[in-house]
Amino acid sequence: MGGSGMQVTAVYPGTFDPITNGHLDIITRGVRLFDRIIIAILNNPEKNPLFSLEERMDILQAVVGTLPKVRVESFDGLLIDYARERRAQVIVRGLRALSDFEYEYQMALMNRKLAPDIETVFMMPSEAYSYVSSQLVKEVVRLGGSVEGLVPLPVIDRMRTRYDSRPPGGKRRS
Ligand code: PNS
Repeated sequence: MGGSGMQVTAVYPGTFDPITNGHLDIITRGVRLFDRIIIAILNNPEKNPLFSLEERMDILQAVVGTLPKVRVESFDGLLIDYARERRAQVIVRGLRALSDFEYEYQMALMNRKLAPDIETVFMMPSEAYSYVSSQLVKEVVRLGGSVEGLVPLPVIDRMRTRYDSRPPGGKRRS
């Protein structure tokens, strides 16, 4: 960006449980806009994710790890502390619908309060993915529906395997 020689690093944070084609769409747009984009997976075991942090790292690496300018990492604690550590000037978030707005608006302004030097940039994914969320994708696959075209293929395989070894309801057989 710009002719000043300044390199703009963006952090794209999220839970990514799992990554969807909507996330992928935002990453592709981010690559065009920023010099570097670090996909930062929140380590949030208390959210009881379907995929462990290690699995989410593996999946993200497989799906976007070879894209130039893209790196996959994980983080703990405050997002702005992590962004500062990485010398990122920008936080990227995707906005699908009005329903995303209120929460995103609060986070962006709280992050600005904590770190006025870091700018949140919102990007809209293709309308083809405007209804796609990790939550709904998991529910559909768990109940036997197809999410082809909505998540990357490696994700479909992993989810099928995961739900085949988990009875409906989500609890593991003991
Ligand atoms: O994919 P998600 O779950 O919508 O991502 C939410 C995320 C990871 C961006 C947000 O929960 C976050 O930044 N968590 C880190 C802790 C933090 O900085 N909290 C204050 C946010 S104002």
